[in-house]
Amino acid sequence: MLVAISETEFRRLRDAIRERFGIFFDDSKQFLLQSRLQTRLVKRSLPDFNAYLNFLTAHPERQIEWDELASVLSNNETYFFRERAQLEVLANEVVEEVRKTGGKLRVWSSACSTGEEPFSIAMTLLETRRLAPAQIEIRASDLSPRALEKSETAFYRELSFRATPPELIQKYFKPFQGGFLISNEIKRMVEFFRINLLDERAVAQQGPVDAIFCRNVLIYFDKPTQKRVVEAFAKALRPRGLLFLGHAESIMRLTDMYEPIVTAKAIYYRVKPHAH
Ligand SMILES: C[S@@+](CC[C@H](N)C(=O)[O-])C[C@H]1O[C@@H](n2cnc3c(N)ncnc32)[C@H](O)[C@@H]1O
Repeated sequence: MLVAISETEFRRLRDAIRERFGIFFDDSKQFLLQSRLQTRLVKRSLPDFNAYLNFLTAHPERQIEWDELASVLSNNETYFFRERAQLEVLANEVVEEVRKTGGKLRVWSSACSTGEEPFSIAMTLLETRRLAPAQIEIRASDLSPRALEKSETAFYRELSFRATPPELIQKYFKPFQGGFLISNEIKRMVEFFRINLLDERAVAQQGPVDAIFCRNVLIYFDKPTQKRVVEAFAKALRPRGLLFLGHAESIMRLTDMYEPIVTAKAIYYRVKPHAH
């Protein structure tokens, strides 16, 4: 039977979620939150949302429950080669800069969901043939433990391939149990780990990186949280490093730490030197 969430419970719960993860459920999302959390109440044998709130605050297993919540609350929608024009910017512009200095290219996919984004970065970089795999370091993180587990299996079904050129499926995947497994060559290039983007210290510690992808995440945060996260990214980026956001996300009126770059095909941001 469906357990209803009262308005007071909804407000307390959504404030606690916003504070911890940044994800904001506005007033129109009361029933969405109610339905997403039904399974959690059942799993914990709790009669109502008030009991659930108490569990999250005081139960010895509250940390485990917050981790479960991180997996249940996030929208993990993603696919290979999403907004490919941005990947091309990385492959051309950033790779050239790294080649000039002879160092390593360091990229961070900061909310990678089930892994399609960092693996697309790996394939794009290999396809350029301008850097050896040993010169490429791709780190990929997410808040959701379940999404990260899926990333580690590197197993994908058809929906993930809606924007993938067939020749790249042929080259980098092998059919497996009704889906596809990514090749070891690509898998080896990506290191997965868990991070909450609201943890500014942990974010800053990921640097220095040449580029950060944080696509289709900020839309779930309110403006002050968006500002906080992108300003922490500025500390993790090397001077002139690039930030890539989703096409529905803009930070132009949010912070002056970045210079927007608008081309015919892609929009991205270069961190200003004084942001460091
Ligand atoms: C829609 S997916 C985006 C995946 C990929 N970047 C893309 O554009 O296809 C959003 C991801 O953001 C993650 N996320 C939400 N809040 C987060 C937070 N506070 N810290 C880290 N990741 C978070 C979710 O777990 C989810 O996997």
